[in-house]
Amino acid sequence: MSDAATEGLRLQAGVCRTMGSELTAQVLEAAAADALAGGPSAALLRPWAQADLKTVMFDAMPLRLAAAIHDLALSGEEPELSAAYVALDPVRIWTVARARIGEHAARLARFMEHEPQTNEVRRSICLLGGFLTVARETGLPLRCFEVAASAGLNLSWDSYRHELAGRAWGDPAARVRMDTDWSGRLPPLEAPVRVVERAACDRRPTELSDPDQRRRLLAYYWPDQVGRLARIRAAIDQAVETGVAVERADAVDWLRARVRPRAGTASVVYHSVFWTYLSAGTQGAFMAAVGALGGEASAEAPVAHLSIEPRPTDLSIMEVRLRLWPGGEERLLAECQPHGAWVRWLA
Ligand SMILES: C[S@@+](CC[C@H](N)C(=O)[O-])C[C@H]1O[C@@H](n2cnc3c(N)ncnc32)[C@H](O)[C@@H]1O
Repeated sequence: MSDAATEGLRLQAGVCRTMGSELTAQVLEAAAADALAGGPSAALLRPWAQADLKTVMFDAMPLRLAAAIHDLALSGEEPELSAAYVALDPVRIWTVARARIGEHAARLARFMEHEPQTNEVRRSICLLGGFLTVARETGLPLRCFEVAASAGLNLSWDSYRHELAGRAWGDPAARVRMDTDWSGRLPPLEAPVRVVERAACDRRPTELSDPDQRRRLLAYYWPDQVGRLARIRAAIDQAVETGVAVERADAVDWLRARVRPRAGTASVVYHSVFWTYLSAGTQGAFMAAVGALGGEASAEAPVAHLSIEPRPTDLSIMEVRLRLWPGGEERLLAECQPHGAWVRWLA
């Protein structure tokens, strides 16, 4: 087994620990030790046997491994493994998983071939301040266009209850609720918000009507982050009931074909954690498409570009940025933790 694959597992274990999942950290460390000793997990890492550390991490191989085992547990096909997850016992999880890897090798390897599928619901609380800023500064109803939306769970941001710094925004009876450790000033919570249109695309949307895809989405959530898991389950249930739709399309093509400014509304193009998936050429094409939209904007038909993307020099911190046309000057609104656990408002 390549040093890079096992080093990647240990590196990701450290990240999981920092981000509050001791369970995933311990499972990954056990997998690294097992692979190094030539145990059954080595077979699952074989596609990365020649890879360097950058590729291992870019592919998120360690997260694929952790999710593949969690997915097997969620399937209920291995009751002992499911029970170990319910008990949130990493030692038991790894002991059972290790004993079953051989039997389920093809299924686990198939799961790991697929690029990670995630949709982080609490990014809605990081986006909230951006939407409120656009609503306040334009005084217009919003049209929300999300690119790279995965299952589209952040398309319903305005139906969720957001709690921050002792204040709250949204329906008090909302089924999906989130809070965050907010610091800095508050965004304009009093701004009147009305969403009159919403649409989303992803090059590979997560189909919530498909039980396997729904389970894949859950499997990427760390099992000991119980509140996070409960939140995504509630958001999935709501999305299935209300019929959230995500069109299968490339972001640049969709933006060019789907979005035009409209008088009497503010059109907001937004995305979270998709920038690093794009080649430099596609990043340029995306910015050109957004810039062209901005060029068509007017005071009656403003256009905004709102994003949450990792800081290039420190991927563990996300930056919330906003451009609003006419004008289009870029503003750094906030910094946040990748899962929205904290938000530092800077605007
Ligand atoms: C890390 S996920 C983030 C999903 C969601 N925005 C969130 O924050 O939870 C990245 C998403 O980007 C999508 N994606 C990557 N490149 C894309 C492209 N060129 N066009 C459309 N979607 C793309 C992937 O399919 C995936 O669903």
